[in-house]
Amino acid sequence: MKITEVQSTTKEQRVAAHSHIKGLGLRDEDGFAEHTAAGFVGQVQAREAIGLIVDLIKNKKMAGRAVLLAGAPGTGKTALALALSQELGSKVPFCPMVGSEVYSSEIKKTEVLMENFRRAIGLRIREVKEVYEGEVTELAVEETENPLGGYGKAISHVVLTLKTVKNAKQLKLDPVVYESLQKEKVQVGDVIYIEASSGVAKRVGRSDAYATEFDLEAEEYVPLPKGEVHKKKDIVQDVTLHDLDVANARPQGGQDIMSLMGQIMKPKKTEITDKLRKEINKVVNKYIDQGVAELVPGVLFVDEVHMLDIECFTYLNRALESSMAPIVVFATNRGVCTIRGTEDIASPHGIPSDLLDRLLIVRTKPYDEAEIRVVLQIRAKTEGLQIADDALAALAAKGVTTSLRYAIQLLTPAAILAKMNGRATIAEEDIAECEGLFFDAKASARGLLPARLGELAGTGDVDMMT
Ligand SMILES: Nc1ncnc2c1ncn2[C@@H]1O[C@H](COP(=O)(O)OP(=O)(O)O)[C@@H](O)[C@H]1O
Ligand SMILES: [Mg+2]
Repeated sequence: MKITEVQSTTKEQRVAAHSHIKGLGLRDEDGFAEHTAAGFVGQVQAREAIGLIVDLIKNKKMAGRAVLLAGAPGTGKTALALALSQELGSKVPFCPMVGSEVYSSEIKKTEVLMENFRRAIGLRIREVKEVYEGEVTELAVEETENPLGGYGKAISHVVLTLKTVKNAKQLKLDPVVYESLQKEKVQVGDVIYIEASSGVAKRVGRSDAYATEFDLEAEEYVPLPKGEVHKKKDIVQDVTLHDLDVANARPQGGQDIMSLMGQIMKPKKTEITDKLRKEINKVVNKYIDQGVAELVPGVLFVDEVHMLDIECFTYLNRALESSMAPIVVFATNRGVCTIRGTEDIASPHGIPSDLLDRLLIVRTKPYDEAEIRVVLQIRAKTEGLQIADDALAALAAKGVTTSLRYAIQLLTPAAILAKMNGRATIAEEDIAECEGLFFDAKASARGLLPARLGELAGTGDVDMMT
């Protein structure tokens, strides 16, 4: 069973559009929302409601329950769910999915849900390990003749000198460690630690003695470690249960025949089975009992929940009650609609009543022009765009008749048009030109088959847009 050294498989998250959201923006003293704070503008009631839910979660009173965000498109449902996970802590997993993701011809619906559940449950593993830590001041490889003959040289050992504030130590290391050093791309001047038991090296960052004046650098600078080179260190690792599933499902490399066969036949990853998950849960529970690991329930965000069918809802009801459940936040923009997978049972938001009973429902309301304007300003700033006042006003007005999201999305094409017209700042003409080029949804629909739209209106799907 492999539980440490696990690569994270966190999905490339659909959150770039929300990079300006830094939290709910509530006051610490009383939990009331500032009108504009932490990147959030308006939607005060919903933010305060989510704030209350954060308190419930922190007091462990949310078990078996879930949250439903209901509101028109572009009213900040995804943003609220993201802010919820941010309020819970920086390392809390946030796993977004869309209801329709469950439909695949290869994987069972419940399997997709299960996988996403496990992506949203974090595990913080805390271990005290014997390590050698310090800044690398010397890194030399000693070679010998290849014992197997041939022309190649073999590495006999690695000489590494580590320095801390207190002292320095020269280490003579096994070639295995060298591989690990190479994997981490360790150079002289890096701060690293090597686990004594496994010989695994981890690069912490570049020593701040090497810090340069460039602002644009991906490098993380860390101070020179204090204390001895050889010491006991608290090592904290954050993984999700899904990371553990994946790491343990992959055939482990080894010298045996099976793995040789594996190389020839290139098998797909072995499947993550229920049995494997049960085994992992058992080990995880043991770790938790021993106090080595701590469960960090994250947020599973299920957008367009009305796309799930009755089978999924039944599964969710049970999954929400398990002891290892994340906080589930559903979102929908539907009012009353037919529950998928049933003949004609209509229900609020297309959710069966037994699940509805578990939900705390938060409504999001459309924004007014002033609010849209402020959001646009914040977005322009995060994207590094200049926009003139009259252009901002025009875009905000557009946002009222369409949606906030549409207005935000026009920012980038408008910036490109401005640039083509030789301006660094987006002007009103650029917005007008954009409008001439693109249609918003309503305008686009108006021009298309009005008869067909009339037909659709009779299907009972009541949209909250109106
Ligand atoms: N109150 C708000 N303050 C700041 N930005 C917002 C707010 N509400 C929505 N946004 C931004 O507007 C865009 C659309 O919102 P989103 O959360 O995707 O809406 P929904 O999920 O309800 O369709 C996103 O970029 C989001 O970050
Ligand atoms: Mg959304």
